[in-house]
Amino acid sequence: MSQTFTQTTNRLWNHRLAKPVVFALCLIPLVLLAYRWNTNQLGINRIETVARYTGNWTLRFLLLSLCITPLRRLPGQSGLIKFRRMIGLFAFFYACLHALHYYQIDIQWNKEILIEDLTVRRFFIAGMAALALMIPLAATSTAAAIRWLGGKRWQLLHRLAYVSAMAGVVHFFWQGKAALYTPIYYGLFLAALLLYRAGYALTHRK
Ligand code: HEM
Repeated sequence: MSQTFTQTTNRLWNHRLAKPVVFALCLIPLVLLAYRWNTNQLGINRIETVARYTGNWTLRFLLLSLCITPLRRLPGQSGLIKFRRMIGLFAFFYACLHALHYYQIDIQWNKEILIEDLTVRRFFIAGMAALALMIPLAATSTAAAIRWLGGKRWQLLHRLAYVSAMAGVVHFFWQGKAALYTPIYYGLFLAALLLYRAGYALTHRK
């Protein structure tokens, strides 16, 4: 990587406007969804479109947050770390939107369907597991929580992000609808990230 490139990116990540810009970028999927919702551009099956859209964005943000660790180890990219928490919290935000839309608009808190989802339908069990695993991560995303848990335990807990992403990929895979290749692509991407983490841990053992 050339020195000019690393200097430029370093300056970019450390710019005082970098965080607000990343925050605004993370809001774009929500703004586009709201626009399409308000202008009736969500197609005939509005419920399915919103479920698919928010589900995909949840997984994308989750995978993006997992990319930060390998990327920040590249020369001049250490400043990327300051976006990890924000991107992870956006993954949680889109996951809540995705789940709430299903419960509130799709099934309208119908108890029978809820119980069936929780006990019989593996697709929903995997989705709920993915969301449940994100809760302790979001709850411990503050600096105070890191101090309280201690760095090592916090890091260990935050490996749950990989398990949540795995459950998200399985959830998508079990959807069993048209997009057969997309969950496979997400799964391969996640496998590459996991392989990187395993390789790094093995070669940097103390
Ligand atoms: C309580 C938790 C959850 C519920 C109830 C839920 C429910 C749903 C529903 C109803 C769909 C649409 C199925 C259809 O095509 O008709 C869906 C799709 C999807 N969900 Fe979830 N989900 C949950 C959590 C999650 C989480 C945490 C993730 C990501 C980590 C996720 C990722 C996806 C993806 C990627 C799709 C497929 C999108 C597509 O077809 O392109 N879901 N989910």
